[in-house]
Amino acid sequence: MSYRKKDKFIINGGNKLYGTIKVQTSKNATLPIMSASLLTTESVKINSCPDILDVQNMIKILKKLGAKVERIGDDYVINNSQIDDICLDYNLCKTMRSSIFLLGSILARFKTMSLTMPGGCKIGERPIDIHIDAFKRLGVKVVELDDFIFFNAEHAKANKIKLKIPSVGATENIVQFASTLKGKTTIYNAAREPEVVDLCNFLIKMGANIKGAGTNKITIFGVDRLKGVEYRPIPDRIVLGTLLIATAICGGVIQINNAILNQNEKLIDILLRMGCQINIKNDIITISRETPLKSIKSVSTGYFPDFPTDLQSLMLTLSCIVKGKTQINEKIFENRFLIVDELKKMGAKIQIIDNHTAIVEGVHKLSANKIKALDLRGGASLVLAGLAAEGRTIIENVHFIDRGYCHLESMLASLGADIKRI
Ligand code: UD1
Repeated sequence: MSYRKKDKFIINGGNKLYGTIKVQTSKNATLPIMSASLLTTESVKINSCPDILDVQNMIKILKKLGAKVERIGDDYVINNSQIDDICLDYNLCKTMRSSIFLLGSILARFKTMSLTMPGGCKIGERPIDIHIDAFKRLGVKVVELDDFIFFNAEHAKANKIKLKIPSVGATENIVQFASTLKGKTTIYNAAREPEVVDLCNFLIKMGANIKGAGTNKITIFGVDRLKGVEYRPIPDRIVLGTLLIATAICGGVIQINNAILNQNEKLIDILLRMGCQINIKNDIITISRETPLKSIKSVSTGYFPDFPTDLQSLMLTLSCIVKGKTQINEKIFENRFLIVDELKKMGAKIQIIDNHTAIVEGVHKLSANKIKALDLRGGASLVLAGLAAEGRTIIENVHFIDRGYCHLESMLASLGADIKRI
């Protein structure tokens, strides 16, 4: 499907949601797995890839490097045997932070690489010092010059690494790099997110020897070579969370298939406390919201298994229509309250205390307005605000939302929301 930069959403709020929907495959699992396909010269088949802008851009980057990519339905077959040019397309990298994940696999295979500072959502400074420090610990030479960073891994050596923060991206980079690095590499304070575990499972299927994925100590015993495999990444826990919160906001009853419960326990607990009814059977979650919601006073984001930062702005929108005050603490990123001014245009009452704290006072109804998405998850939150508002909301800049959701408007319209793309 093609997405156009000038697309907008038009929403007539007020409808309840009813129906059944399947969760798309995880963006944050698929992207590093696509990057890790570079670690083998054999073909890798990735099943059910989400048709989102970030995946389309990652495929463009791989093709520019020389990858042969075939799309069969929703599956991609990637063969990187012909790659000889390791010059990354800087314009594409600037649009997507995931380009940083290419560092581990490219350095493992080609030993040298240069980068410009990677892009992505403007949610805080998002430095890459933890990645750089970790590579240095593994003997990679790093030279920073103006906007460029040069890496040379010719004399790299396995080692112990302690991350100062359990960074998802840094853990994923090191796991990729160390998979074929001779010796034993240990990552302490590793990220435990399900997407890190999924990347490790993919690498293990390729022949890597990795222990401890999902804990804060991951050990990688380097192997000589990795082989081509077929792999299905996990469902997207943030899209699942978006659908659950959408139902809490709009009311109604929806059944969500392809949902993994233990990835969203914190959110489910919050929604139950707010008064939603939730039933779980295997990978099917049914949620209904019939009565007004109760305030849960405060929500704090944190590293997995705590409440995910990627659902924070959706929670902010939900709090806008719940009676009473809710304090939102954002502990992972600064500057992740970008949507507050847009929500205020819709009548929301939100006070920003500092870069990490906002206090929301629920209003009876939000009112429709013309607003702009400014980042991926914030953009999705504005869509949910539009569904809750009285009247006709217009959302511009939906290309931010298209980075991570497979046509969010079609998903919601299939559940009865009045939303269309123009
Ligand atoms: C990944 C996810 C993103 C999610 C985030 C946290 C992908 C493609 N993106 O992003 O959706 O919101 O995890 O769950 O998987 N930090 C540094 N220096 C670094 C790296 C990170 O200070 O070198 C800081 C960041 O600014 C942030 C915190 O560490 O405050 C966590 O970032 P990190 O876990 O690395 O997030 P990403 O991997 O970029």
